[in-house]
Amino acid sequence: MIGVFDSGHGGLTVLHALTQRMPREAFIYLGDHGNAPYGPRPEEEIYALTLAAVERLFAEGCLLVLIACNTASAIALRRLQQDWLPQAAPERRVLGVFVPMVEALAGVSWRDGTRVPGKVAPDGMVAVFATQRTTHSGAYPFEVGLRAPHMRVVSQACPHLVNAIEAGESEAVLRELVSGYVAAMLAQTEGRAPDAAVLGCTHYPLVAPLFAEALPKGVQLLDQPAIVADSLADYLTRHERFAVQQGEAGHRRFLTSGDPARVSEFASRFFGAELRFEKA
Ligand code: DGL
Repeated sequence: MIGVFDSGHGGLTVLHALTQRMPREAFIYLGDHGNAPYGPRPEEEIYALTLAAVERLFAEGCLLVLIACNTASAIALRRLQQDWLPQAAPERRVLGVFVPMVEALAGVSWRDGTRVPGKVAPDGMVAVFATQRTTHSGAYPFEVGLRAPHMRVVSQACPHLVNAIEAGESEAVLRELVSGYVAAMLAQTEGRAPDAAVLGCTHYPLVAPLFAEALPKGVQLLDQPAIVADSLADYLTRHERFAVQQGEAGHRRFLTSGDPARVSEFASRFFGAELRFEKA
């Protein structure tokens, strides 16, 4: 089974796209609801929590884990791949949602630097809305800048949005928050509209219509879950040993470090289907 990890509910937007794109694939989802949100946490804590989650999914037998959280990917992915995995589990893999987005923006393959179809012109401008920690890490502008040095990446932190979504705030409250963050982004660009916007946090697709409404007309809203699903499907065709094994097809399991009853209720509403979480 493929492990999918997020700090809480947000990764379900990615899991939804994965199951649509690869219905036969087997997935086990781990939400660290007991420790969410990650956005305001110090880097060392995010690294330790992400490492523990990956170890937990490896213990479930996953050979491949996708970190479906931008914050955890931005902070922990490189370090896990370079410093931990080669000793701890060299035959297994950890991927993150951050890499397909960097490839889609820069139009350059992460793996070998060859050109891939990009979503933005090489000298275009892109706005990345994300958590405080992802924004402060500078990971998006840094990695895109290495591959597309003429692209302008404008980062905008949205510090209260994850909590407001998790708390089930009204649409009016969420609209006000989102339009405030869009206005703050436009203040950074002196009013110039970007070519594209990335919702660089897995919770934000839940309020994508509010971003679409607040952004100037013509800004392309990139669909991170769909981009990640395409990228994982492509990865599995190149690495068949991680793809579904006989007898596992279409299997799904859901684990949480939080309260399974509460999480199941919220997640079922969110996913549009009954999901039963077990205690991790
Ligand atoms: N899921 C996280 C992300 O994609 C955000 C939620 C959190 O702050 O825990 O960045």
